[in-house]
Parts: sequence; C-alpha cells; structure tokens
Amino acid sequence: MRTDGMLKEGSLKGQTIIVTGGGTGLGRSMGKYFLELGANLVITSRKLEVLEKAAKELEEETGGKVLPLQCDVRDYEQVEAVIKQTEEHFGNITNLLNNAAGNFVSPTERLSARAFETIIDIVLKGTTNFTLALGKHWIAKKQAGTVLNIVTTYAWTGSGYVVPSACAKAGVLAMTRSLAVEWAKYKIRLNAIAPGPFPTEGAWSRLLPGDLVKKFDPAKLVPVGRVGEHQELANLAAYLMSDFSSYVNGEVVTIDGGEWLMGAGEFSHLEKIPQEMWDMLEASRGKKQ
Ligand code: HXC
Ligand code: NAP
Repeated sequence: MRTDGMLKEGSLKGQTIIVTGGGTGLGRSMGKYFLELGANLVITSRKLEVLEKAAKELEEETGGKVLPLQCDVRDYEQVEAVIKQTEEHFGNITNLLNNAAGNFVSPTERLSARAFETIIDIVLKGTTNFTLALGKHWIAKKQAGTVLNIVTTYAWTGSGYVVPSACAKAGVLAMTRSLAVEWAKYKIRLNAIAPGPFPTEGAWSRLLPGDLVKKFDPAKLVPVGRVGEHQELANLAAYLMSDFSSYVNGEVVTIDGGEWLMGAGEFSHLEKIPQEMWDMLEASRGKKQ
C-alpha cells in the first residue's frame, strides 16, 4: 500500500476547485491534496466556523489559498452566490467536487417523510443544484469544466437501511452519466467515485452509531482486509480532476478493496470455509476418482 501523493507537482496548477462539504472528512482530505498540487480551493458547507478553521489549517499545512464560503447546497440561490463570490476572489472556476452528503441508518418504515426528503435534498438536489448552476455558467461563458461526484457502491446495488441515501446516490450517478454525454460538446466532463469504507467522524457517527461500531467492523467486509486511507481516495480524485484524465468521461470508479463484489458474488461466503475443510473435500473427491 502507498499513501503518498501520486501526481507530479503542479498537476492542478491554475485550477480553481469548489469542494462541497469541504471542511470535514473526505472533502477536506481531497481538498488538501488539490492544494498540494497547486489548485486554488473553495470549501463550502452549512457551518461557517468549521469551514474557517479548516481553511486556516489547510493554508498553513499546504501554503495554498482557500476560500471558505457558507452554503446550504439545498438552496439554489446560495449555490449561485458561491459561484459569484468564487469568481470575484479567484477568477474562473475550473472544477466542482460534489461531496456534501447527509445520511443515517434506519429501518425505512421508521422514517418520517421529512427524514427521507432531507437526505434526498442534500444529496440529490444539492448535487443537481451545484451542477446545474455551474454548468449553465460555464456554457454561457464558453468555458470548459470538470465535475466529480462522490457516490457509493450502493448507488447501483441498492442497500437496506440507507434507502434515502441509496435513492439519492443512484440519481447522482444517473446525472453523471447523462450529462457526460449531453455536455461533452461544451467541454464539460463528469465522472464519479464510489468509495467503500473510509473512516470519517461524519460517516462513522451516523452509520455505526452507539455500539454498532463494536459489532460491525467495516474492514471485515472488505476482501483486502482493511478500510481505505484518505490519500488513496485523494490520489484518484486528483487524477479525475486533472487534465491527465481528459479522455475519462461518464465513468464511475470504485475504490473499495473489492467490498461490493464480495457482497454480490454468489459463492463469496465460502471464504468462511477453513483450509482443513477444503483438504477434506479434496481428499474425498480423490477417493471417488
Ligand atoms: C431517522 C432522522 C435521523 C436518524 C434525523 N432524522 N436523523 N431520522 N434516523 N438518525 C430526521 C429528523 O427527525 C427530521 O425529521 C429529519 O430527519 C431532518 O432532521 P434534521 O436534524 O432537522 O436535519 P438537518 O439539520 O438538515 O441535518 C441533516 C442530517 C444530519 C442528515 C439529519 O445528520 C447531518 O447534518 N448530516 C450531514 C453529515 C452526514 O450525514 N455525513 C455522513 C455522510 S456518510 P422529522 O420528521 O422529525 O422532522 C455517507 C456514506 C455512504 O453518505 C456510504 C458509506 C459506505
Ligand atoms: P462528512 O465529513 O460528514 O461530510 C459531509 C459533508 O457534507 C460535511 O462537511 C457537511 O458539512 C456537508 N453537508 C451536509 N449537509 C449539507 C448541506 N445541506 N449543504 C452543504 N453541505 C452539507 O462525511 P464523509 O464521510 O467525509 O462523506 C463525504 C462524502 O463521501 C459523502 O458524499 C459520502 O456520501 C461519501 N462517502 C463516504 C464514505 C465513507 O466511508 N466515509 C463512503 C462512501 C461515500 P456541514 O455539516 O457543515 O454542512
């Protein structure tokens, strides 16, 4: 395993990247690497205090420039304001990382209509708001742009107990693939990343609340036997944001150590069979021949 930065110095120089939900967790880690590669960074979310603290730390850690802007992705006017303020501060925007999300685990029948709607609004409407607003802007200015959307592997498998998130992420994936075709003529490229488990305070506190974290070790569900390192995701995200990936369009790249395929494979559960039992099975097969 390598957890150092992968791209060469200056790979994102001259780029201005907006990261929604960029003050915490994976958004912060990806943003940090974009800065290290020379990009200007805008981080947005609802909590300005969190953003301002993160911006200060990121600038100190990387020597780059970070603009923290409060914005609830559910509100189209706030999204348009971010675009305006970013251009005033940094000039042209080149990239958007739709990373902001909300999630929790619950039997679906226990959810209120508002709970369901809250997740759909943050994840799906938030992503379409930002993509539509910036896409229209780029098209009007005849400017190229690249969008990267963070989904999950259950965007295509579905998953119980996170149904609003699954519905919303599936919608984000559909949008990614649809617009990758429709907007290619405007030199706008869209891709997605589907991460498996990468520890963050935000995800762990909501998806493994209380004692669940002791009962369900996410690493046990991953064939390679571990969770992801943030830099591994940041390397992939930086590549997809850079011009090195300009022929990659409409793709969703999974980075999960094989997790979802292990769940999907008909006989993957045979992993639980000990070597001695395989020895016995082999021996008994030998006798019959
Ligand atoms: C059931 C819940 C709930 C829960 C809130 N609600 N939490 N229902 N179980 N745990 C209900 C509330 O009762 C309310 O409905 C409605 O949802 C809205 O709740 P609010 O607290 O008013 O919403 P809001 O302040 O907008 O906060 C949004 C949030 C919160 C999603 C509830 O958790 C949040 O801010 N999350 C942001 C960060 C986050 O979730 N990060 C994790 C991403 S991880 P009623 O009817 O009572 O009004 C991720 C990983 C995916 O996506 C894949 C992993 C492998
Ligand atoms: P996180 O730290 O909780 O990140 C979520 C971010 O979204 C927070 O910064 C939050 O900031 C922001 N946000 C929430 N609601 C918002 C809203 N209405 N408007 C604007 N911003 C909002 O969790 P994370 O684990 O890093 O998740 C990042 C992304 O990775 C998400 O898309 C998630 O689905 C995806 N993902 C994570 C994992 C994992 O294992 N961690 C796996 C698969 C996919 P505020 O609270 O300040 O608004």
